[in-house]
Amino acid sequence: MTTEATSEGLSNLLHEERTFPPSEAFAAQANGTAELFDRAAEDREGFWAEQARRYVRWETDFEQVLDWSEAPFAKWFVGGRLNACVNAVDRHVEEGNGDRVAIHWVGEPEGETRDITYSELHGMVQRAANALADLGVGEGDTVAIYLPMIPEAAVAMLACARLGAPHSVVFGGFSAEALHSRIDDAGAKVVITADGGYRRGKPSALKPAVDAALAVGESPVQKVLVVQRTGQDVEWDEARDVWWHEALEAADGTHEAHAFDAEHPLFILYTSGTTGKPKGIFHATGGYLVQTAYTNHVIHDVHPESDVYWCTADIGWVTGHSYIVYGPMTLGATQVMYEGTPDTPHQGRFWEIVQDKKVSILYTAPTAIRTFMKWGREIPDKYDMSSLRVLGSVGEPINPEAWMWYREVIGGDRCPIVDTWWQTETGAIMISPVPGVTPTRPGSAQHPIPGIDARVVDDLGQPVEKGSGGYLVITEPWPAMLRGIWGDPARYQETYWSRFEGMYFAGDGAKLDEDGNIWVLGRVDDVMNVSGHRLSTAEIESALVSHPKVAEAAVVGAADETTGQAICAFVILRQEAVAEADEQGEGGDLVAELRNHVAKEIGPIAKPRQIMIVAELPKTRSGKIMRRLLKDVAENREIGDVTTLADSSVMNMISEGLKQPS
Ligand code: WT7
Repeated sequence: MTTEATSEGLSNLLHEERTFPPSEAFAAQANGTAELFDRAAEDREGFWAEQARRYVRWETDFEQVLDWSEAPFAKWFVGGRLNACVNAVDRHVEEGNGDRVAIHWVGEPEGETRDITYSELHGMVQRAANALADLGVGEGDTVAIYLPMIPEAAVAMLACARLGAPHSVVFGGFSAEALHSRIDDAGAKVVITADGGYRRGKPSALKPAVDAALAVGESPVQKVLVVQRTGQDVEWDEARDVWWHEALEAADGTHEAHAFDAEHPLFILYTSGTTGKPKGIFHATGGYLVQTAYTNHVIHDVHPESDVYWCTADIGWVTGHSYIVYGPMTLGATQVMYEGTPDTPHQGRFWEIVQDKKVSILYTAPTAIRTFMKWGREIPDKYDMSSLRVLGSVGEPINPEAWMWYREVIGGDRCPIVDTWWQTETGAIMISPVPGVTPTRPGSAQHPIPGIDARVVDDLGQPVEKGSGGYLVITEPWPAMLRGIWGDPARYQETYWSRFEGMYFAGDGAKLDEDGNIWVLGRVDDVMNVSGHRLSTAEIESALVSHPKVAEAAVVGAADETTGQAICAFVILRQEAVAEADEQGEGGDLVAELRNHVAKEIGPIAKPRQIMIVAELPKTRSGKIMRRLLKDVAENREIGDVTTLADSSVMNMISEGLKQPS
């Protein structure tokens, strides 16, 4: 592992000197203050205890803030008992805010909207919890959720939380194969899905993927609850399938919620690691709720009584869990939830929603911002976006150019930008400017937030000097930290806590600038970041090799202007397939076939941008593929040092082979 590959060409970042101090007016109303930093520095655990009691309602107060005696297995807010759903819903109704809109839902088809108040949400989660209980779901049972961006997705998650049944949300863009392995790994008893969802102007089916996922082998799933969204035809298994609307109608309208231990698992979410098998990251209830609510309040600066907040992530990713469902709802915020893509039916859709719903806080990803840049500023310029007051970025490094565009074109030069670094594993924001306090610097996530201790260290785990690069680590446990990998404690220890003694290794390379700001550069392991989505090279390689025509495959992430990284695959064909490829010139149909195969195995997001058919792969004498060299090819660079290759002529063969006219 080296940080050199990721920092190449990024050294210019360290010369970025523009700073944007907060305006006095913003600072005067901001939730974040300099005192938070002081308080956390003087007594970290005391600080977290205060946040825990401030943001969360405990049915039983906790006795101990942190139990780290079995590190790296943490317990936070020991002895405390709470219900996450009660915190996110019931509490607001009881406090007299039931009429406040929780969700302004905007469907992809224009004109289709739903406004749901906290009182209405309360009614829905109670019915849904009873419906799930009627299907046999109880404390500790896992439930898989495979839904489009509709309010029922949030309701389903909250109903599970209400019952103490950990949910495992699988992104709707994942394939039946991917769904199958996640359902099995989590041992889900029930799956909640929909007939379909709207995607780019058309209904797109979801249920067939569930049917296919459950048809393989012996499934732990007993019931499938189906939301009717598009009205399209679905296959129906009378013994197994239940309509969501019928089940909710039949269910009791009141549900008395019980409190669960602070450490009770709230959810599992699968994410790509460095091997082919995705990791089931699991989070506990108490600490997660505390840190998501605290960060949504202090970092996004949400004022629940006046803001309209919009996080554009899908509920299938951790950003949707933490910053659509648990953080904002625990605060009692009003938010926009949008079903579709940014260009349906036109490229101004996001800005039209900002204008119509008077969005004041927008949280989106650099890849989206770069896409909007490409479409041109004339599009956002047509809309009134004066309601915006805070902008957030998440998922991958944001280059200073995109940051400046976001600030000027979307934020009208007045909104602070929070570039928030965190991960599925960290559960909530860890590194970010605090708006109203931190003078911002384009392209840098800047510093750990109050209560978090992060550092950039060298190979030996020693802090690097200002102006140098190294590895990003977290040096103290934090409330929303993952509690482990579902069913695999050894992998948890090995993946995150073994590289540096006593520190959490995030897998990212980072640099410190002369002012001490942290610049996160990207992954230093075999994990790619494509449009802010995490994918492992091994996972895609194994999907390629599962195709009967493929003998061997190597995948690299190549720099891409819009998506950050793009997937490039190098494939060696089996003997029989070689002749066929030769007949088709560069392999035309075969390449398309392989791309579709990856989409079928994992999902469309994993489709390689490019597949290159090669005769050999560059390997070291011990047989390890040298991805660094393949990356040089994929990025059209001069090929680096080949002296450690078992056969140094391989790279010539690859470059020559690829140059041949078709
Ligand atoms: C990886 C985590 C955080 C929720 C969405 C992604 C990269 C995330 C930033 C940022 C630079 C970032 C890192 C990290 N990343 N935010 N602000 N600046 N890089 O969650 O799928 O678990 O991916 O995303 O590489 O390790 P995830």
